[in-house]
Amino acid sequence: MGAWATTTLALYGAGGAAVAASLFKLRRRLELSQAKHRSLAGHSRMARRLAALVPFYEYDEARFFCADGAPTDVAQCRRAGFERLSALYKTRFAESIRRTAEAADIISDLQFTGAYRVPFQFSRYTRKHLPSGAFMQSTEGVTITDLDGNRFYDLTGSYGVNVLGYGFYKDAIERGAAQVRELGPVLGPYHPVIVENVKLLKEISGLDEISFHMSGTEAVMQAVRLARYHTRRSHLVRFCGAYHGWWGDVQPGIGNPVPAHETHTLKDMSGDTLRVLRTRRDIACVLVNPLQALHPNASAPSDSALLDSGRRAHFDKDAYAAWLKELRAVCTERNIVLIFDEVFVGFRVARGGAQEYFGVRADLVTYGKTLGGGLPIGVVCGRHELMKRFRDDRPADICFARGSFNSHPYVMGAMNEFLHHLHTPAGQAIYQNLDGTWNARAEGLNARLRAEDLPVEVANLSSIWTVYYTRPSRYNWMFQYYLRAEGLALSWVGTGRLIFSLNYTEADFEQVAERFVAAAKAMQRDGWWWSHPELTNKSIKRAILKETIARRLFA
Ligand SMILES: Cc1ncc(COP(=O)(O)O)c(C=O)c1O
Repeated sequence: MGAWATTTLALYGAGGAAVAASLFKLRRRLELSQAKHRSLAGHSRMARRLAALVPFYEYDEARFFCADGAPTDVAQCRRAGFERLSALYKTRFAESIRRTAEAADIISDLQFTGAYRVPFQFSRYTRKHLPSGAFMQSTEGVTITDLDGNRFYDLTGSYGVNVLGYGFYKDAIERGAAQVRELGPVLGPYHPVIVENVKLLKEISGLDEISFHMSGTEAVMQAVRLARYHTRRSHLVRFCGAYHGWWGDVQPGIGNPVPAHETHTLKDMSGDTLRVLRTRRDIACVLVNPLQALHPNASAPSDSALLDSGRRAHFDKDAYAAWLKELRAVCTERNIVLIFDEVFVGFRVARGGAQEYFGVRADLVTYGKTLGGGLPIGVVCGRHELMKRFRDDRPADICFARGSFNSHPYVMGAMNEFLHHLHTPAGQAIYQNLDGTWNARAEGLNARLRAEDLPVEVANLSSIWTVYYTRPSRYNWMFQYYLRAEGLALSWVGTGRLIFSLNYTEADFEQVAERFVAAAKAMQRDGWWWSHPELTNKSIKRAILKETIARRLFA
């Protein structure tokens, strides 16, 4: 064979290899695309780009009451209801509102939460006439009292921290502080109480080692960092809609100014995702927030996103457990680190958290919130080989993790009180028939709402609830104001998430249910749920899209 022929053959060979490599890459790329949820929540970059294009506009006073095309008599009825509610808010919550107004300009968080309680078209007018107080003065049992002396049933659950009731945490903080007082707030050296905490956490998590951090966000950061370090792979997989704190890599979409290049956001409960996990070589870990079982592939529900009545939720424990088992098997097969982020559900759904509740074991587990006994905390529990932060054979190759306030003695003291309580008969009793109790309460409330022909229902994962709406409407976000007027305290996401502490008695819950139904009846009476055959969720979305485009093009 001449030199020319040899060269040609070599070129063909190289070309063939290049084509094969490109086809291989293309296939992997297609598999990745298939494993993305079709919603915007599944396409973080596109969501961010589109979000940047949405122009501000708002409804004037006349349109505010008939944005859905309701006739004049209905708009008038709504206006009368709104004015009545506004007068009630301004008198009943006067002091709380006054203090909030004073602080709003200088506490950034207040400005943000204040602006995002309802869809932005309605926000300014609502803020002006139905201002929300941001201050509270005391708690007792399952109630919380504002600066004006109004007592509310607490449905905020303090972001999920409050599992055992505020009274428990007040005592835990005091008793925990007493345990460590002699040492005081010394950082670096440990108070001996930490040793018992670690032993108890090992037993509860079924894992070998523990590291302490200052928040759930930091615990997740560390778990992912460890997974990357030990697998020497770059990417984390998170599921569409799942919240894992506000660190950039776990929040790749709206809310983060820069893209997260090493995060794959994939479909929850999907064979397409398992295929990606089986075939890609860049995946270090899969992060699971078991709370997503209540609304797989959807973001945490917030009333500011209640543009129509499309919000749905439903918890199927068996289906989610089966999914986790499949995920576990693929992660084991591919040496991918399976991380359960139990910052929210840990200690709430079962003593052993989601691992016990769903019957699946993770390689790393993060805890936080309630575990601090009322003080700030983030914890990672994991297998020895994954928790190690240095390599014996490569002394300079370390996985760094510090934090001035980690293992703070006062936090360790309060945590100790919390963990001890779980071992007492009273602590164990709270988990008995937990789901039975909360499912019956949710079903009972739904039955009452249906009997009254009210277009509202709740779905729940144990004591974590969300409200959804069964008739197309543009005004569901108003419901949060009726609930507050009935003495039910909600967090800034409104009816998106109701979180109950486990010390709610039947009598307490009966009070909540009565007030909930009364609020829905008042809202119905005031005409907000007016319906018309042409008013559908689709028609609402279309109308908003038209408004947005018109604003963008012509304003
Ligand atoms: C599942 C989950 N992970 C992480 C976090 C972040 O925890 P933190 O707010 O303590 O930073 C949260 C907070 O809500 C959470 O729910």
